[in-house]
Amino acid sequence: MPTRTLIAVVALAIGAIGGAMVANTAANAWRLQRAHRHAPMHAMQHHVARLDAAARGACDAAEVEARLARLRVLAPEIGYAYAAEIRSDRAFAERYAALRATLDGAGARCKALDTTLARVKDACEACHVDYR
Ligand code: HEC
Repeated sequence: MPTRTLIAVVALAIGAIGGAMVANTAANAWRLQRAHRHAPMHAMQHHVARLDAAARGACDAAEVEARLARLRVLAPEIGYAYAAEIRSDRAFAERYAALRATLDGAGARCKALDTTLARVKDACEACHVDYR
């Protein structure tokens, strides 16, 4: 094989491998971003479902407080996962802020759990109705 052809073949091979590596890195970044967008939603859904069960069954105020505390920690994860939307889309940012304000104002009293839950679910739905 002439030297020039050999150099061309090697250059093509390096180019192909490099291209595949870049594509793979981009695909991984996209998968990670998608997972990060979905994970806090599922975790919040889990705690909302448990609060629902508490509202229908035996309610323990300490458990309600623990789950509300988890929701207050999970909700800001939306802020990281959807940072671009929050910067560029005012309605999205307002719904995100509204969920956090609702959670911050939510009390753990069992007697008020139905009302608290309705407010939290409304805050979730207010965003989902347009963005989910
Ligand atoms: C500020 C907007 C916003 C708020 C508030 C919000 N979500 Fe979401 N949620 C989304 C978006 C956007 C999606 C769609 C994600 C996708 O499919 O990429 C979503 C999807 C979901 C999903 C489906 C996830 C999946 O993998 O398909 C669940 C479950 C969920 N949200 C639960 C909740 C719960 C529970 C709350 C309230 C405690 C909540 N969300 C509040 C924006 C929001």
